[in-house]
Amino acid sequence: MNAVDAPDNAQGRSVRPVEEVFRRVFGAHPEGVWAAPGRVNLIGEHTDYNDGFALPIAIPQHTLVAAKRRRDGRLRLHSEQGEGPVIDLAVADLVPGAVTTWGAYPAGVVWALREAGYETGGADLHIDSTVPTGAGLSSSAALECAVAFAYDDLYGLGLTPAALALIAQRAENGFVGVPCGVMDQMASACCAEGQALHLDIRAGAHEHVPFAPGAEGLRLLVVDTRVKHDLGDGAYAALRAGCERAARLLGLAALRDLAPEDLPRAGRLLPASLVPLVRHVVTENARVTEAVSHLRAGRVAALGPIISAGHASLRDDYAISCAETDLVVDTALEHGALGARMTGGGFGGSVIVLVAEERASAVGTAVTGAFRTAGYQEPHLFEVSPAPGARRIA
Ligand code: GLA
Repeated sequence: MNAVDAPDNAQGRSVRPVEEVFRRVFGAHPEGVWAAPGRVNLIGEHTDYNDGFALPIAIPQHTLVAAKRRRDGRLRLHSEQGEGPVIDLAVADLVPGAVTTWGAYPAGVVWALREAGYETGGADLHIDSTVPTGAGLSSSAALECAVAFAYDDLYGLGLTPAALALIAQRAENGFVGVPCGVMDQMASACCAEGQALHLDIRAGAHEHVPFAPGAEGLRLLVVDTRVKHDLGDGAYAALRAGCERAARLLGLAALRDLAPEDLPRAGRLLPASLVPLVRHVVTENARVTEAVSHLRAGRVAALGPIISAGHASLRDDYAISCAETDLVVDTALEHGALGARMTGGGFGGSVIVLVAEERASAVGTAVTGAFRTAGYQEPHLFEVSPAPGARRIA
């Protein structure tokens, strides 16, 4: 077997298996099938909840939802991956905390739509996903967005992809109880094939920027370390609170309002424990801006050092890297990768590696070998290219 798996060609995946399982489970044909992808973020980590910038791409791995409306106000959920029988809920009784399994994500979307005042009802949903869970690739956002897009179509809500992303984020914040920003949901909802998504969170704006590593003889690899450290959950909220506190102490609406040249002054005003957090956010926003200008000029290779600088900042200032992600980054760079960084929330998950085509296999072999030597479980390596965002596919 190759060290690096070939790109997942899930975009061409047949919908028939999900339609068939839907029919077997729910005894009727679905009204449609919707798809929403996972993501990797090229640069701009932990900037979304600071009103800043990010630059994710959608990956080919995605979640499918086959769906059919119900007239009796019941929400019935079945998943190819989730354990257990069909989850059967009354839409009218959905309140935060009521669902604690994977069903909280789809139920949260239905709850968030009602909270926002949209007239919907029940549905039967069958879910099947190729986005690995716990890998930092936004399997939750993919699930939320697939359900949001299905509901939007089924109930004729006419919401934009960005509005559906906000509904999906509301589901995760208010129903599931995770205080995430909106980057993952925006990526899943708004990305386009062959493009990165430049997000300006404060402006509520997004634009597509061409990202075609293949055209420059480059590859973007994802290394799923298969590590998820438990401290991740509470730590994310603590980091977010630290950033918000720093902004308050500086008299700013958000850390977005701080420029790199303001850092020395901010450093004098803030408690020492907050200074590295602020430095990460400010320098990371600048890295997004720099990366976007390179992409606009067609210089994908120039992203390499920016990506690696982003990792150093997450490791040294934000302190959310771990031994496994650092080992991938160091090994990849030692073996000729142009850039590497952990992507997503941190404390494990996945690393992206930008590498010349002819070095990709050697880098993959070196990373796998380094993991074996360190006694870590075997990582999963695969190549990705920018995939389309959420959409109806049947
Ligand atoms: C998680 C969150 C996002 C974002 C990233 C870090 O993926 O869901 O909103 O904050 O972490 O960039």
